[in-house]
Amino acid sequence: MQDLKGLILSGGAGTRLRPITHTSAKQLVPVANKPVLFYGIEALVAAGVTEIGIIIAPETGGEIREAAGDGSRFGAEITYIVQDEPAGLAHAVLTAADFIGDSPFVMYLGDNLLRDGLSGLVSTFREDRPEALILLTPVEDPSSYGVAELDGERIVRLIEKPKDPPSNLALVGVYLFSSSIFDAARSLEPSWRGELEITEAIQKLIDDGQRVQSEVVRGWWKDTGQLADMLDANRLVLQELETRLQGEIDEESRVEGKVVLEPGARLIRSVVRGPAAIAAGAVIEDAYIGPYTSIGEEVVVRRSEVEHSIILFGSVVEDLGTRLEASLLGRNVKLTRHEGMPKTLRLLVGDRSEIEIV
Ligand code: DAU
Repeated sequence: MQDLKGLILSGGAGTRLRPITHTSAKQLVPVANKPVLFYGIEALVAAGVTEIGIIIAPETGGEIREAAGDGSRFGAEITYIVQDEPAGLAHAVLTAADFIGDSPFVMYLGDNLLRDGLSGLVSTFREDRPEALILLTPVEDPSSYGVAELDGERIVRLIEKPKDPPSNLALVGVYLFSSSIFDAARSLEPSWRGELEITEAIQKLIDDGQRVQSEVVRGWWKDTGQLADMLDANRLVLQELETRLQGEIDEESRVEGKVVLEPGARLIRSVVRGPAAIAAGAVIEDAYIGPYTSIGEEVVVRRSEVEHSIILFGSVVEDLGTRLEASLLGRNVKLTRHEGMPKTLRLLVGDRSEIEIV
């Protein structure tokens, strides 16, 4: 079998993580201080797939190129492929036709995280040589995903975001394909949401009697397209970190549980209760950082408590008085409280921000 190539889909509009994704690609939002996209690249490389194409959108592509570069630091060779409009996952595959040629390939949705990596799947695909190998996992809200209807082990039908799901088995955003997926994708019409659906392309393979195999994912899987899933992914990844304390901890600070403190990060009279990750240049002063929190580079948390949250580059949280919880703060956000009467809120908030005062 020819060597497998990798195709990571990092285009799209990212509407559900706005306003963060107004200014940056959703695939670059960090989980445990590492962009989601990098987990995908690393998983491909670990499975021996090093020739990788990344689909990018015209608006956010520059930033993705800058972040992932030519791939050498991952041990990969990355080619960027611009998709002019987010016309669907099957449209993205067709856009990559020249890059893929007639190789089999692993398609990986750039906002997905898969705990157990790809090595097992790649070996199964190499041994069994189906036209497509797809991954399934039980979910609570199948109507938000592509859903499979099975008869024993055999896939009977795949439907994209069904109103009335035939099972709770969702399609995970990792697919292994032979080049026969191109003909199937070329035969599609846009769906009700105006996209060329990869789910329908795979259904076409099934209808044509081609071999489509499925596997149920064992470890956890997350599609990080929405806030709750993003925070959940952050929690799951942080749980598996090993403690590494390279920053400065003063005598009045305490670190409990699994904590990563990058070089140049500083704890001053503070408590950090892991699992938590604190990036380079962050300053935590007279503060409490609770479990499942990722503090980005150059962030300042002062006289405040933060738990189960992600705070991105350069943001400042000061004198909050209440605990910040289950939150995602973008880059260079300032969140402070000034004591005084009357109690008022003074806000400068970007379009489509969400603020809940509890
Ligand atoms: O996460 C799994 C789900 O992913 C599957 O269960 C669904 O069957 C599949 O259609 C897909 O659904 P989503 O609606 O969640 O896909 P989303 O629009 O979030 O796009 C997934 C990734 O692909 C994301 O990184 C953006 C990128 N993308 C998306 C579109 C529509 C592109 O690169 N180009 C596109 O045209």
